[in-house]
Amino acid sequence: MINFAHRGASGRYPENTILAFEKALEFGANGIETDVQMTKDGILVLMHDEMVNRTTDGIGFVKDYTFSEIKKLDAGSWFSKEYLNEKVPSVEELLLLVKGKKVVVNFEIKNTIIEYEGIEEKLLDLIYRYGMQKNVIISSFNHYSVVRVKKLSSEIKTGLLYMENLYCPEKYAKYVGVDALHPYFYSLGKDVVGQIKKEDIMINTFTVNDTNYMKYLMSIGVDGIITNYPEKLNKLMINQ
Ligand code: G3P
Ligand code: CA
Repeated sequence: MINFAHRGASGRYPENTILAFEKALEFGANGIETDVQMTKDGILVLMHDEMVNRTTDGIGFVKDYTFSEIKKLDAGSWFSKEYLNEKVPSVEELLLLVKGKKVVVNFEIKNTIIEYEGIEEKLLDLIYRYGMQKNVIISSFNHYSVVRVKKLSSEIKTGLLYMENLYCPEKYAKYVGVDALHPYFYSLGKDVVGQIKKEDIMINTFTVNDTNYMKYLMSIGVDGIITNYPEKLNKLMINQ
């Protein structure tokens, strides 16, 4: 099973920072989930929100910052003063960190509210440049974006993010042509997991922070759990 550290080890460290990713690996995660946005000058950076306000000392949209401007922001102090030196990382920095390690990176393309033209091409370009095509999965709530990724490169694994209970999600996954479904964990039960698995579709579910839910989801056979606490999940996986 894949233990995806959601935005890195974000339960204990500032989300989507190199520190949070390093700690996730230290905590035994064999997967990292992270969010991709694009700067004004076309550099792909890792941040959940379209705006920098919540997780940095800046204000405004990521799309209105150049990469060098965004790099000047403090991406750690909002979480705790001791992390004031943390910066907003680029996709490239994360690829450098995980290259050669047994880790799957789940890149979530964040292009629902803001449409970043060409973000899929740019992301694939970087993934290929670092030879990571077998170690990534690209997901999005924007299913058009996921289709675009698959069209650009059929070997790249893709996943559909969704919140609600879908009727026959396995049929939808087949129709869209993806490898995985990434449902909110509340929409899962034994029967639906069985239905999906029968069609050979992977299930990576988010965001599961409670140990009892982790245990339950493991018992019904999901392939991956996305969590802010990879250390908790790692412990369960070791004792399984
Ligand atoms: O990839 C799963 C999860 O991260 C999706 O929701 O809002 O945390 O990006 P969000
Ligand atoms: Ca995400």
